[in-house]
Amino acid sequence: MHTEPKSPQEPARPAASGLGRRALLATGAALAAGVGAAADSRTDSGRAQRRSGASGAPSPAAAIPFHGLRQAGVTAPQLPATHILSFDLAPTSVAADRETLRNILAALTRTLSAAAAGTFPDPRLQGGADTTRLTSLVGIGPALASRLALNVPPELAELPPHPGDRLDPARGNGDILLQLSAADRWTLAVVAELATTAAQSAGAVPRWTQTGFLPHTSPGVTPRNLFGLKDGTANPDDTTAERWVWGPPGPHRHGTILVYRRIRMDIPAFTTLPEERRNTIIGRRVTDGVPLTGTTEHEDPDIYAKNPDGSYLIPATAHVRLSSPRLDTGARMLRRSHSYDDAPNDRGLLFCAFMRDPALFTRVQNRLATRDALTPFIEHQASAVAYVLPGAEPGRILGEQLWT
Ligand code: HEM
Repeated sequence: MHTEPKSPQEPARPAASGLGRRALLATGAALAAGVGAAADSRTDSGRAQRRSGASGAPSPAAAIPFHGLRQAGVTAPQLPATHILSFDLAPTSVAADRETLRNILAALTRTLSAAAAGTFPDPRLQGGADTTRLTSLVGIGPALASRLALNVPPELAELPPHPGDRLDPARGNGDILLQLSAADRWTLAVVAELATTAAQSAGAVPRWTQTGFLPHTSPGVTPRNLFGLKDGTANPDDTTAERWVWGPPGPHRHGTILVYRRIRMDIPAFTTLPEERRNTIIGRRVTDGVPLTGTTEHEDPDIYAKNPDGSYLIPATAHVRLSSPRLDTGARMLRRSHSYDDAPNDRGLLFCAFMRDPALFTRVQNRLATRDALTPFIEHQASAVAYVLPGAEPGRILGEQLWT
């Protein structure tokens, strides 16, 4: 059964653990931004709406605040259902398009904050359990940022082509990216519709959408992907994330850059390989995610450890060797992927990674595409990059830093 922490203030793992640390990060950011003020918007009537139907019993899980220094779609523990939506902004004049973007961000802020607080006046979001367990993130694509001369990090840029890319432009890119995640698909479908309506009425044009899911896991348990592998183990801790995931001091301190890849996986081909082969392809045991050089899941894979015959314990083509931060002067990305299942032969990973500089993705992906033993089992089919805006504090709208 899914047992998320009762609220972002109550991480269920000690601060030293991965998800616990992220919950604390969320808590810290929310407190710094004034949870008190955010809670004001969750009025008594909001709380009453979150009581479940006939019994009047309180909903089992508290709402995740929308407001804060950083967007909860990056900082809160991952929720099991996700819906990614991309929009374009039809070009007119720079001045008019800047105004349209402002209006879209205001409309999204209103809709998403009300949905997260449980105050959106839509019967479909009331009376059920968990309808407010929702997180979101809003980002701006590099093409729009450059066309409208927006104040975004200088690192924000389209990705260059990587070997083996089979990218469908209709399923990737875009001017505005929105990722919604929720405890259940009902909330997600309704909020996606409301957010789309809000963005469209302010001038956004829907471009593509993609839904995904995760297994329900207890807090602190790394979810598996459809290859059956624990995915997200070696994510950076808070201190490391401040250096490599979030922006430098200045206007982008609480923003980050998302790299999204829709990666189709040949699941029957991989999952029917002998277990030993699957272990060496990744460099970790499939049963429990423990590195081939260690005894516990969360210890660092030692890519330099050798067998008595001089060969590496983690093979030269293993995924965790080629993606190791040791090959990138310690640079790290925060991976928060979901799986997707769009057809029997169209299943895979919605790879979502957050980093200060997307050049890191390109360096890692160039190594993986040419040498990773996992590569014959996967195909990158779509791609997007977006500047994930700093959070909006209560009474403010997303993206106020863009215009300075
Ligand atoms: C379908 C495609 C992929 C699958 C199934 C996959 C799976 C995994 C697994 C099982 C791990 C080990 C556990 C963990 O630390 O999470 C891992 C680690 C990692 N992967 Fe992937 N991955 C995929 C694509 C990618 C891509 C495209 C990148 C970036 C270009 C990437 C970057 C990383 C990094 C940075 C690590 C952590 C390495 C470390 O610090 O030890 N992965 N991946």
